[in-house]
Amino acid sequence: MANRCTFSFVVMLAFALGCATMSVSPASASSCKRKLPCGPSKFTFYLHNTVYNPAVDNRNYFNSIYSLPPNISFPNPFSFGVRNTFEDPLTEGPSNTSKSLGKAQGFYVLNSFTEYTLFHIFTANITEGKHKGIINIFGQVREVDPVRYLTVVGGTGDFLGARGLASSTLVEIDHTPPAKWTLSFDLDLYY
Ligand SMILES: *[C@@H]1O[C@H](CO)[C@@H](O)[C@H](O)[C@H]1NC(C)=O
Ligand SMILES: *[C@@H]1O[C@H](CO)[C@@H](O)[C@H](O)[C@H]1NC(C)=O
Ligand SMILES: *[C@@H]1O[C@H](CO)[C@@H](O)[C@H](O)[C@H]1NC(C)=O
Repeated sequence: MANRCTFSFVVMLAFALGCATMSVSPASASSCKRKLPCGPSKFTFYLHNTVYNPAVDNRNYFNSIYSLPPNISFPNPFSFGVRNTFEDPLTEGPSNTSKSLGKAQGFYVLNSFTEYTLFHIFTANITEGKHKGIINIFGQVREVDPVRYLTVVGGTGDFLGARGLASSTLVEIDHTPPAKWTLSFDLDLYY
């Protein structure tokens, strides 16, 4: 315990000295006291996804495709290891004809043997509306959960340095091939 406290103290001292030393030179001004500008603390968008399905060959209206399934000879009921890459339109409201905000680009990987879980990593590129910039989001979408909590890990533009929570719900899903769905994302952002 004593050792750990001493260690923390030394680290803090080294950090303080580092800041003090750095602030001497104006050319390489210290970043220790810099603050991020505050962007929006709440932001909502809706993501619309239509999967490409070779059976109906909807090549003229899709925004996501599955990669090849793993080369295995045993059953894989939850498509473990399959990736889907997407470039999805984002809108301000739940309808796909609502005002456009930009697009989400990224992928998800099905990562459970026993249920549908979709591990998402994507950027929301917000190019229209009051706020513009990138929001980087990742986290697990477990299908049975009514609300899925993902994490905002960063951003650019009006969302520079944003961190926080991305609460996502399924707004609607249509399983008729090609499968399509809409997800809502309510963001609580901190800077
Ligand atoms: C799948 O695995 C089998 C057995 O290892 C191999 O013979 C076959 O070439 C693989 N197929 C592909 C598409 O990689
Ligand atoms: C919105 O969704 C409907 C129903 O799936 C579809 O027919 C229509 O083409 C979509 N519109 C846009 C702009 O994507
Ligand atoms: C966001 O989209 C705009 C418009 O297409 C583009 O100019 C910009 O480079 C995009 N940003 C990223 C990080 O993809």
